[in-house]
Amino acid sequence: MDKKKATLTVDGTVPIELDVLRGSLGQKELDIRTLGAQGYFTFDPGFTSTASCQSKITYIDGDQGVLLYRGFPIDQLALNSNYLEVCYILLYGETPNLDQFYKFQGSVTNHFVLHEQIHHILRGFCRNSHPMAMLCAMTGALATIYHDSMDVNRKTHRDLTAKRLLAQMPIMASMCYRYSRGKPFIYPRNDFSYAGNILYMMFSSPSDKYVVNPILERALDCILILHADHEQNASTSTIRTVGSSGANPFSCIAAAVASLWGPSHGGANEACLLMLEEIGTVENIPLFLQRAKDKNDSFRLMGFGHRVYKNYDPRAMVMRDICHEVLNHLEVKKDLMEVAMKLEYLALHDSYFIERKLYPNVDFYSGIILQAMGIPSSMFTVIFAIARTVGWIAHWKEMHDEGLKIARPRQLYTGYTRRNFNSKIK
Ligand code: ACO
Repeated sequence: MDKKKATLTVDGTVPIELDVLRGSLGQKELDIRTLGAQGYFTFDPGFTSTASCQSKITYIDGDQGVLLYRGFPIDQLALNSNYLEVCYILLYGETPNLDQFYKFQGSVTNHFVLHEQIHHILRGFCRNSHPMAMLCAMTGALATIYHDSMDVNRKTHRDLTAKRLLAQMPIMASMCYRYSRGKPFIYPRNDFSYAGNILYMMFSSPSDKYVVNPILERALDCILILHADHEQNASTSTIRTVGSSGANPFSCIAAAVASLWGPSHGGANEACLLMLEEIGTVENIPLFLQRAKDKNDSFRLMGFGHRVYKNYDPRAMVMRDICHEVLNHLEVKKDLMEVAMKLEYLALHDSYFIERKLYPNVDFYSGIILQAMGIPSSMFTVIFAIARTVGWIAHWKEMHDEGLKIARPRQLYTGYTRRNFNSKIK
C-alpha cells in the first residue's frame, strides 16, 4: 500500500503523525494503531468509520452501489457463474479451471454424510423450535465430532473444515426443516447441483423420484451467490472476533449463525415478508410508510436501508429480476410482488427516504422468491446462512493465514469514579 501521512493535534499538544493507508480501489484509511500507546483511543460505536482488518476478498462501494467478489462484479457472477464456482473464487482468490473445479466439487461432495450423533442432538429439540436456533446448536455441536480438523494453526485442518462446512451446512439446514415437519431426513446426491440438492433435501419424498425444477434451481443458485459474502458485516465481524481468540471453527460458525439471525441483519428477509403480508394491499402502504417515518413508532421498513449502501443495493436489482422470473414461471398470485414494487416506488419518491439515502437492500425481494418456491419464512435466514457460510470461512481462513491478533476493543468509560465499598447486606 502507498503510504501518505496525516497529523493529529489534540489540545495543542505535539502533533501525532499517522499513516494514511490506501486500499487497492483508492479508499483512504487512517492508521491509528499507534494512538493507544500515546494515550488516545478512538470512539466509534457500531464501527461506522472503523476498518477492523484488511482483506482481499470482497469490495463494496456503498455510494456507487458496487459489490465485487475478488474483483468480479456481483451481477456478472450471479448471471454467469454457479455457487460452487463462486465458493472457489471466494476461498482461493482466482477462477478455477475445469480440473480445479471438479476436484473442488469432489472434495465438497466427499463430506456429504453427516455424523449420526448430530441426528441425536437434533432429536432433542422441540419440533416447533426455530430452525435458526437448531442450526446454531448443530453447527456448534460439530466441534464435539470433528477432532481431526480443529487445529486452527494447521492449514490442512482449516481447508478440511471449509469443505466439511460447505457440504454439511445445507444437510443440517434441510434436516431442521424436515424435523420440524416430522419428515424423514434426505441426504444429498452427487449428481445434483448445490442448489438442486437443497431443493431435493427439503422437498423430496423417499418413495418418489425427484426432478429438480431448473428455473427454481437457477433462482436459488443466484440467491446463494448474491448472499455469499459481504465483507465485514455483523456476522462476518463476529466470526473474525470469535476466531481471533483461536476458537475452533465450528464454535466460530455457530456464533456467526447467531449474529445473522438478528432482524437488523439476516433476519430481515423473514421480517420483510411478514411486513409485506401485514401491509397486504397497496392501499395500506401510505399508512406503513408513515409509521416507518414516525420516530415514536419502532416500526421500520424492513428490506430497506443499509449501513454501507447509500445507493441501490446491486444485489437487490438482480433479486428483483429473479423474482419476476420465478413468479412468472410458477404462475402464482403476484399480490405481494405488487405491494413490494409499489412500496419501493413510493419510498424512493419520499423525501424521508431520499434524504437518508434509504434504498431496497438484498432482503427486500428475496422473501417473495423463497416463499413462491415453497420455502417457509422461518427458513429464509437459514438459506442465507447456507449461502454466507463460504464468506464466513473465507474471512476466517484469511485471518488465520495473515496471523492472529486477538480482537480487543477499548471503551469510553462513563461510569462512577472511584468510591469506597460499604456493604448494605451486613
Ligand atoms: N425504515 C425507516 N427508517 C430507517 C430505516 C428503515 N428501514 N433504516 C434507516 N432508517 C432511518 C433511521 O431511523 C435514521 O433516521 P434519523 O437519521 O432520522 O435518526 C437514518 O435512517 C439512519 O439510520 P441508521 O439506523 O443510523 O442506519 P444504520 O446504518 O445504523 O442501519 C440498517 C442500517 C440496520 C440496515 C437499517 O437501515 C435497518 O434497520 N433496516 C431495516 C432492516 C433491514 O432491512 N436489514 C437488512 C440489512 S441487509 C443485510 O443484513 C443482509
